[in-house]
Amino acid sequence: MVKEKIISAYELIADKYDELIDHKPHNAYYDRPNTLALLPDVRGKIILDAACGPGKYAEILIGKGAIVKGFDISPKMVELAINRNKDKGEFFVHDLSLNFSMIEDNSCDIVLCALAMHYIEDWTNTIKEFYRVLKNTGILVISIEHPFFEYNFFKSKEYFGIENVKCTWKSFGRPVEVNSFRRPLYECIAPLTDNGFYIDKLVEPKPTVEFEQLDPKHFKELNEFPAFMCIRAVKKSTDG
Ligand SMILES: C[S@@+](CC[C@H](N)C(=O)[O-])C[C@H]1O[C@@H](n2cnc3c(N)ncnc32)[C@H](O)[C@@H]1O
Repeated sequence: MVKEKIISAYELIADKYDELIDHKPHNAYYDRPNTLALLPDVRGKIILDAACGPGKYAEILIGKGAIVKGFDISPKMVELAINRNKDKGEFFVHDLSLNFSMIEDNSCDIVLCALAMHYIEDWTNTIKEFYRVLKNTGILVISIEHPFFEYNFFKSKEYFGIENVKCTWKSFGRPVEVNSFRRPLYECIAPLTDNGFYIDKLVEPKPTVEFEQLDPKHFKELNEFPAFMCIRAVKKSTDG
């Protein structure tokens, strides 16, 4: 099954991922600054970090005064998130595609899901769960692989479909095959707007200057064509 392959891949690279995450250009100087810029002041806010990986986002958010709960499907990633954040935050193993039964209705100010939605084939239940756990007018911020980038990168012939795709990552020690699901732009927006959210802001990010020194080739490419997309969605008011 695709899900088992995704878990195995992340279990294999988790330690190296954790070691590199602070300064890996696509994360540190492309995804994170652009995604974090979509969050409001997080001081005192309750944040669910869905698919938290080794807890780098959580570390930053806790450092800014947020109360963070995070989960990930990879037990190794969760262990690393706990180690990175010591006794701060709360981290557990859970699957993004299942109900978040451990999180109460209307209990989170913000849900963050960075670079993980492409591991889910059908977004509907996940988005419904984000909606359920968010407080009225709560904020959902997601970063995803840009659908046009994926269409080109995976040389797709069926733009309108949702396809299982795979590629080999070589920058985490040994090469590892990573499966994910490519989808058209419509399938990134409709699950949100059909399930109680409005899109407040959509960003096609540019890398920061630090990226250029570490990886000039990709810096040039990312200034010509986006690889990621960041979305801020708001839970529509239930007050009528
Ligand atoms: C690219 S990493 C991003 C980690 C973190 N959000 C960050 O940006 O630093 C993707 C993460 O998604 C997790 N993941 C993949 N499928 C998942 C699922 N079905 N449920 C929860 N986590 C999942 C992986 O284990 C991995 O830690």
